[in-house]
Amino acid sequence: ETKVVCICGGGNGAHVLAGLAAAQAQAEVRVLTLLKNEASKWSASLRDSELVVIRRDDSSEIMAKPAFVTDKASRAVTGADVIIFCVPAFAHRMYLEAIVPHLERHVAIVGLPGRPGFEFQCLEVMRDAPCSVLSYESLPWSCRILEYGRKVEILGTKDTLTGTAVSKKAQLRFDPVAFLQSVLGELPALVTAGKFLDVSLMSKSFIHPALMYAKWKDWDGQPLSEMPLFYQGVSESDVAFLSAVSDEIVTTAREVGKLRPDLGSGDVDHIFPWIVRSYKYSVQDLTSLYTALKTNSAYDGLLHPMTKTVDGKWIPDFTHRYLSEDVPCGLVVVKGLAELAGVASPAIDRLLAWCQVKLGKEFLVGSELKGDDVKVTRAPQAFGYKALDEVSASL
Ligand code: NAI
Repeated sequence: ETKVVCICGGGNGAHVLAGLAAAQAQAEVRVLTLLKNEASKWSASLRDSELVVIRRDDSSEIMAKPAFVTDKASRAVTGADVIIFCVPAFAHRMYLEAIVPHLERHVAIVGLPGRPGFEFQCLEVMRDAPCSVLSYESLPWSCRILEYGRKVEILGTKDTLTGTAVSKKAQLRFDPVAFLQSVLGELPALVTAGKFLDVSLMSKSFIHPALMYAKWKDWDGQPLSEMPLFYQGVSESDVAFLSAVSDEIVTTAREVGKLRPDLGSGDVDHIFPWIVRSYKYSVQDLTSLYTALKTNSAYDGLLHPMTKTVDGKWIPDFTHRYLSEDVPCGLVVVKGLAELAGVASPAIDRLLAWCQVKLGKEFLVGSELKGDDVKVTRAPQAFGYKALDEVSASL
């Protein structure tokens, strides 16, 4: 029987996924994009050519055609078994709200990536619709579109990709993880973590805000003549701060695991062992977190997000997604979980206090997550949870 798959998004990741999924026999692949003009542009490309996915490592090409690309949620979603979100986190709500009225079957909603708080948001917007929510830590590849709707390149593929699943009364026609694995091929190997808060707490979305804070907290406002290196330009004290934030997340995970072993395993890695594991082939000096960041060739050329001034100099860009996405759909969620687990988080608080000024928002008041803008984040508090027990009860 045909498996009906809807891919939400029209960017780099959506292109790769649409190509790989459409190459599967027995899958009907539809693409939903709500961004102006993308659907008509991609549809026009499809009329006269297939979508080509090129793998840089072996120059192989996969050619396939999704059934259609549309901006009409009703067309994309009716009868779908699996709906895969391949968009930045800030766009998740928009897609969720568009699809909910049209769901017919019990459905698996997959965040690829999901990012912290994805489950809270899905469960709220889906209300009583039977669904499984799967959330993966990242995109399976680094990739970029070469020609819109026609050609996309996979630059690198991850070895493994960890995800979690929560189910709300869903009886699916097939196993969505096995299906996704068959679409991806051998790599990345999908790993299912047992407890859903693990993936939120494992998320590395604190790294960008922490390194931006460390670099710019004492900035004198003078434009720079060059763009500084993001990772390889860190100082020992920047790294000490990053590590302190990571420590608080590890402690939060441990407490969540103690209080509610159904929600968290208690076992989330500190950033240093994570870097060692993830980048063991590209780091030259694994002595410390500091040396690992400085000598990781995978970070070659990665710069701070900056804006050019009229006289050709550079100032930091505090509107960049490193803050605008990673704070509300990352750091604030982690802070919310720390609060529910009763963990004090002075480093996270210092970081959030700075970030919220840069973003023109108020999340924290003192050390509590009770500012007006908590509601625009994906912290559990934004969905009315006041205790971990309430999170358990909602599943
Ligand atoms: P992208 O920037 O190519 O995707 C953007 C797409 O999201 C747009 O094409 C559109 O379809 C949708 N979208 C964005 N804003 C929208 C709006 N206002 N209204 C409606 N639709 C909107 O993103 P990409 O590269 O596909 O990445 C997806 C996610 O994966 C992101 O969270 C990214 O950080 C993450 N990621 C990407 C990697 C890559 O190599 N491309 C690598 C690792 C993670």
